[in-house]
Amino acid sequence: MGFKRVTVIGGSGMLGQDLVPHLSSCGYQVSAPTIGQVNVLHDVERITTELAATQPEIIIHAAAYTDVDGAERDPELAMAINKDGTRKIAVAARDIGAILVYISTDYVFDGTTNRPLTTDDKPHPINMYGQSKFYGELMVSELLDTHYILRTSWLYGMGRNNFVQWVLASAKQGQPINVVNDWHGTPTWTGSLAHTIETVMTSGAFGTYHTADQGTVSKYEQAVAICKAAGLSHRHISPVSASTLSFDAPRPAYTPLDCAPLAMPHWETSLAAYLTQYFADPHPPNQAGA
Ligand SMILES: NC(=O)c1ccc[n+]([C@@H]2O[C@H](COP(=O)([O-])OP(=O)(O)OC[C@H]3O[C@@H](n4cnc5c(N)ncnc54)[C@H](OP(=O)(O)O)[C@@H]3O)[C@@H](O)[C@H]2O)c1
Repeated sequence: MGFKRVTVIGGSGMLGQDLVPHLSSCGYQVSAPTIGQVNVLHDVERITTELAATQPEIIIHAAAYTDVDGAERDPELAMAINKDGTRKIAVAARDIGAILVYISTDYVFDGTTNRPLTTDDKPHPINMYGQSKFYGELMVSELLDTHYILRTSWLYGMGRNNFVQWVLASAKQGQPINVVNDWHGTPTWTGSLAHTIETVMTSGAFGTYHTADQGTVSKYEQAVAICKAAGLSHRHISPVSASTLSFDAPRPAYTPLDCAPLAMPHWETSLAAYLTQYFADPHPPNQAGA
């Protein structure tokens, strides 16, 4: 549709670190303000002025308070960032005349539906993180028509230490780990999500989308698959029920996303692509010392 200027809020995050270079490689002029420049805790006028400076046609809001257990301990901060912060970004996008892409989560669902979730399924979050993200969705849909809400799940990517890297490290060290076998969902590579965000944001078909890689696994099955794909033993991994572990926040138990009409890759295809990238350079500059 001929868009040129895109701003990514949350460009330093795990998704942002794949998304920003991907959009640049697609030919967009991408700005990615730091948290010092656009902090969603700032007042809306300051945020609007800062965002307006680069005249974005599309704003991708990928910043969030993403610590699920932390959100349970500090719900006010989670709401201030994920609900009120998203409201400010939506107001700014509307006032600038930019399209808004909001990245949301499978955790808006309660996980009691024993089939992949469609965009017709009703959100019912069971923890503060999911609730704050769902409120963020409501802010976006109430404040501007020209929006896309993209729900994704179980992200991993090069930009940050993540579940895949934790499993690989434990396998290399032979360190026994317990992994939950009664949470089911779909791991999603930030690389495939970045590609899908670009496809959706230029479609002109505003609304809510499910954008996860495809297939359904438990966290335990994912961990075993990671070791197998990397040619490592998985004998150090023990399957455990989530009920035997203590988390501050309850998790929805079953949240695979039905992504029709989008064609997302199977999660094992994405895992192979990620591992190729990871083994070529396991410690890119943004992770130095991590
Ligand atoms: N990770 C997952 O498994 C997962 C699953 C489903 C959906 N999502 C959603 O996907 C999106 C990207 O997640 P992610 O894993 O890439 O997150 P992440 O790695 O935790 O990065 C969060 C980003 O938000 C920024 N940020 C935090 N507080 C901010 C504030 N007050 N003002 C402005 N920016 C702020 C961070 O900046 P600094 O780096 O400067 O702190 C960072 O760039 C989020 O919307 C998340 O809810 C994630």
